[in-house]
Amino acid sequence: MNKQTLPVAIVSHALPDGWLELLENRCEAVIGPPECDHLTERLESHLAEADGLFTLLTIKVDEALLSRAPKLKVISNMAVGFDNIDIEACTARGIPVGNTPGVLTAGTADLTMAILLAAARRLIEAHLDACQGGWKTWSPTGWLGKDLNGATIGIIGSGKIGTAVAERASGFGMQIIFTDPNPKPELAKRLNAQQVDLEELLQLADFVSLHVPLSDQTRHLINEDTLRLMKPTALLINTSRGPIVDQTALIHALKSNLIAGAALDVTDPEPLPVENELFTLKNCLVVPHIGSATWNTRRSMASRACENLLAGLEGRPLPYCVNPEVYQS
Ligand code: GLV
Repeated sequence: MNKQTLPVAIVSHALPDGWLELLENRCEAVIGPPECDHLTERLESHLAEADGLFTLLTIKVDEALLSRAPKLKVISNMAVGFDNIDIEACTARGIPVGNTPGVLTAGTADLTMAILLAAARRLIEAHLDACQGGWKTWSPTGWLGKDLNGATIGIIGSGKIGTAVAERASGFGMQIIFTDPNPKPELAKRLNAQQVDLEELLQLADFVSLHVPLSDQTRHLINEDTLRLMKPTALLINTSRGPIVDQTALIHALKSNLIAGAALDVTDPEPLPVENELFTLKNCLVVPHIGSATWNTRRSMASRACENLLAGLEGRPLPYCVNPEVYQS
């Protein structure tokens, strides 16, 4: 196709070599810098002519942005979550929005187990202590942590990632309980697990792991009241979205030992300012939203996002569309 006739796609961020190769000769990509939490002025200046927009989860797509991009035929988010995008506004404008489910399930479930284990066995504290000369002897009571074997993990949200965490936890000898808006007897049978309601899960679990998308219904699902239901010995693990937890209530719960600890891959806001109190609490582990951060996973996410972008640019249904209702009107 003649370069002049190629559709224009704004790609919010530069990605490593080869990750955007599917776009070559299929669109004219205007690519942003590798790191920036908004569209740069240069990219903004292309909005009026853009047919497609490729975003990361740090880019907010709202009505104001959409109104400056009247030609948009597709938005492709390189993430499974899409709470950075005003889906209703996109649907109202007939714009399909794509995400990247599936390819980051294993990576995110692995990271969930990694931070769960790190918190349960106090890895970071023990490592820092050893680095600072604190390793004097083998003490029978040194660095005691929590067992996974025989403990109960409560999985809130048994979608792809929640299920993958349950499978891993089961390999560690954990009992599984989970919540889901729909009855899932087959999943319960397969995992030898029990589906319970939220209240029961919080009361029974030694580890509570969050795997729901962020929506009006799930914002601050973990709050002062729900934290109070948890065991004082329990750990909270969050690899979903920061605002699912009321962070002020969490800080209070951690400081007052209402719960034993937390391991967070996501926070509210992100990035979490270095002066945030969470960083000062010994019973809280924070990592910077790295659930999907493996080379293979991120590359697969990029390629899935390219497939969605190209489908939209070429007038085909997106292979992974979060607002399929857009095709009904
Ligand atoms: C990561 O958080 C994602 O939604 O892909």
